[in-house]
Amino acid sequence: EHSAQVLVASNRGPVSYTLREGGSLDAKRGGGGLVSGLSAIGPDTDAVWVCAALGDGDREAARRAGPGHLDPGDTGGQRVRMLDIAPEVFDAAYNGIANSVLWFVHHLLYQTPLEPAFGAEFRDQWGAYQAYNAAFADALAQEAAEGAAVLVQDYHLALVPAMLRERRPDLRIGHFSHTPWAPPDYYRLLPDDVAASVLRGILGGDRAAFLTERWALAFADCAAAVLGAEVVRDGARLSVRFEGRETRLGVHGLGADADFLRQRSRAADVDERLTALRAQIGPGRKSIVRVDRTELSKNIVRGLLAYRRLLETHPEWRERVVHVAFAYPSRQDLAVYRDYTEQVRRVAGEINAEYGTDGWQPVALHVKDDFARSLAAYRLADVALVNPIRDGMNLVAKEVPVVSERGCALVLSREAGAYAELGADALVVNPYDIEATARALHEALSMPDGERAERTKRLAAAATALPPAQWFLAQLRELTTAT
Ligand code: G6P
Repeated sequence: EHSAQVLVASNRGPVSYTLREGGSLDAKRGGGGLVSGLSAIGPDTDAVWVCAALGDGDREAARRAGPGHLDPGDTGGQRVRMLDIAPEVFDAAYNGIANSVLWFVHHLLYQTPLEPAFGAEFRDQWGAYQAYNAAFADALAQEAAEGAAVLVQDYHLALVPAMLRERRPDLRIGHFSHTPWAPPDYYRLLPDDVAASVLRGILGGDRAAFLTERWALAFADCAAAVLGAEVVRDGARLSVRFEGRETRLGVHGLGADADFLRQRSRAADVDERLTALRAQIGPGRKSIVRVDRTELSKNIVRGLLAYRRLLETHPEWRERVVHVAFAYPSRQDLAVYRDYTEQVRRVAGEINAEYGTDGWQPVALHVKDDFARSLAAYRLADVALVNPIRDGMNLVAKEVPVVSERGCALVLSREAGAYAELGADALVVNPYDIEATARALHEALSMPDGERAERTKRLAAAATALPPAQWFLAQLRELTTAT
């Protein structure tokens, strides 16, 4: 219908549906940076969000909406177009390419003696990824008004900017990467044509933005190495010239939403969970908290091993600390994720069997996703463990200092994007080094209260420098005003 002046495209949309017996649909609205960012452009906006149907409920809702938007009653008034992409195409694009290839490359997750093996199955999946990206480009081309701004999100949709420019050269197109970007030597694991297509796809836009400068520079390095593109630096301005076009690179370090977090974490359901968690930890004990999707890149197993090493080398902490580990299920269609989930359970169980006593369980592992309980843990944590192998930003590292009641020492991987902003007041670790992580945990537990409170204050200030609404508006402003 060619009507929207602002469009957002992402794989996962702001609402998801469950199909009930009898055929009714339950809508559940999601949270996160994009959702609160988009709401910041105001209630009278005609912005359109294009996303994919992820499961059966979504697919049914998308079918009922036809080529139109979802029921505004389900989306809080937001105009959402949910794409009903054939399940086998979606699966090959999302599980096959996005999560098993692009995610792996950017997070350095391959075990290279055996994986990756780019064979015939990969080629089929790559074809599906192209079709899935084309479906987004088609929908955006239909929905966008003349000269509209389109903000394309993440590695699922890397080909969309170039595909959309072909269809609609009048649009302003930006891409934002929520992941790290791989360094050239690692990026070139990808088959040459695929490595080039992904870069060309993003460079089809006017802007390509990242969570930290490190990832933006890696992208520029890959464009130079793979495409022979020219990287232009002019003061703070960084851009890539390729085939007669110039794409500006930008950095917007998404921050925590302080207002929302402070409010939400004082709600009654969080209080309830706080009481339960305190009881589980036991009086007089300290807590080391982690909150993650059960995600290979989050390095949960090495975190547990570091905790075990702490108990081994510092017996004075036995009975005096509990590792509260929230590891919420994620991407369970992939066998490696299911195996990893199993491994997390096993190692946690081993530590409890080895060190646990009648009155003390060293690891409290929770796998059922519960945001209110996560907030309760943020409130009481003495130490937060954020040790990813690699992470675009990591918002847990930014949320904990905001919500923490008495100050919380942050053990932080230097490979998380958040390190760029929080490194000065965190205890920084090499995520592969279990010994060093165990030492950092000891140091964190031993930190004097005053120092902990001071550091937490500075961490919270740095963590909230660019709240989601500002983050979103900055992307939009740069896209519409920059030349
Ligand atoms: C990362 C990605 C997001 C993704 C999220 C959850 O943060 O950058 O695009 O939505 O993980 O992953 P999922 O596969 O469940 O959408």
